Amino acid sequence: MYEATVSAPVNIACIKYWGKRDTKLILPTNSSLSVTLDQDHLRSTTTSRADESFEKGDRLWLNGKEETIKQGGRLGVCISELRGWRKIEEDKDSSLPKLSQWPLRIASYNNFPTAAGLASSASGLAALVASLAKLFQLPQNASQLSIIARQGSGSACRSLFGGYVAWREGTEKDGSDSLAEQIESETHWPEIHALICVVSDAKKGTSSTSGMQRTVETSTLLKERLNLVPSRMNDISQAIRSKNFEKFAILTMKDSNSFHSVCLDTFPPIFYLNDVSKSIIQVIEELNRSSGKIIAAYTFDAGPNAVIYSLQENIGKVIGAIKKFFPTEEDNQVDPFNTKPEELPVDFNENVVRQGGWEKGAVKSLIHTKVGDGPRTLSKE
Ligand code: DP6
Repeated sequence: MYEATVSAPVNIACIKYWGKRDTKLILPTNSSLSVTLDQDHLRSTTTSRADESFEKGDRLWLNGKEETIKQGGRLGVCISELRGWRKIEEDKDSSLPKLSQWPLRIASYNNFPTAAGLASSASGLAALVASLAKLFQLPQNASQLSIIARQGSGSACRSLFGGYVAWREGTEKDGSDSLAEQIESETHWPEIHALICVVSDAKKGTSSTSGMQRTVETSTLLKERLNLVPSRMNDISQAIRSKNFEKFAILTMKDSNSFHSVCLDTFPPIFYLNDVSKSIIQVIEELNRSSGKIIAAYTFDAGPNAVIYSLQENIGKVIGAIKKFFPTEEDNQVDPFNTKPEELPVDFNENVVRQGGWEKGAVKSLIHTKVGDGPRTLSKE
């Protein structure tokens, strides 16, 4: 029996992917850029096994529950493409065992509860693709593998790298140039920290897949957004290279706002932000104003949970502000850095937050993490 275990990280986009020009191949209407989060805290781990003697047919377990692999479905496509690449190697070298013909057993689990309200599809599919690539000893690099991960879930292609990652939309019809590449590694700018504020752990109302399709079909504002993204991609890459936090933060916040505006312009409209999310935006805006400079950036994906990026030196101020207005149960706080929450700046105008503040639990949990590395091969976990 052959076996490989790989873990892959979560990524959170600063320039959002929203819209497909090809729904089968998962080709996006715009390029996107994300920060990979440290997998010491949040990760998906996948073990893949191939054996001649396994009963016919591939099988997959997600968090211990068996899932069906549909032929031609997203997972099925990823597995069959990787098998195809293995077959090419076997044809080149007849001494290789014929793994491409053997049934597979794949088990994947997240170390964070699905109830954490975090999208697990990106890390999950990246771990699956990376573990099969390892099992099959494929020569392809991470960018080439990202072409396959992309077909599992668009945002998954970015989880094949650590650090700061761009997904280039590409122009080819077959998707051969729609792939992820690293802008800078996690060691270039390790001071970027992230605070995840879990506002809701419920499964979202409108999935990204169906929501973005509806946007493509009905939103006129999307065209405006698509004109803006290329310069934002350049500018944010520049900001990352030069470690210009203010520039990075403004672009991140503007792009999150632009994405949620396009959701509102979709018909029927899609609401991902709720009142707690909007209140978090107001707290961060006021924290930045009263600090005299931009020290934090919020961003929201297809749900109400906030991810706040900040430099390590300022994350205590961010944690202090969030905890003051959104009291969270002590048990629901993960902070491996043991950060001391700091007082609000003296000039902070508390009237920006709703009268009486928020009740305990409006923000269910807080997870403090930082930028991290790409997939790791493990012996056994
Ligand atoms: C808002 O990658 O989940 O998180 O390709 O249909 O699987 P599919 O969509 P998915 O969409 C992610 C959307 C987003 C923005 C982003 O991560 O760039």
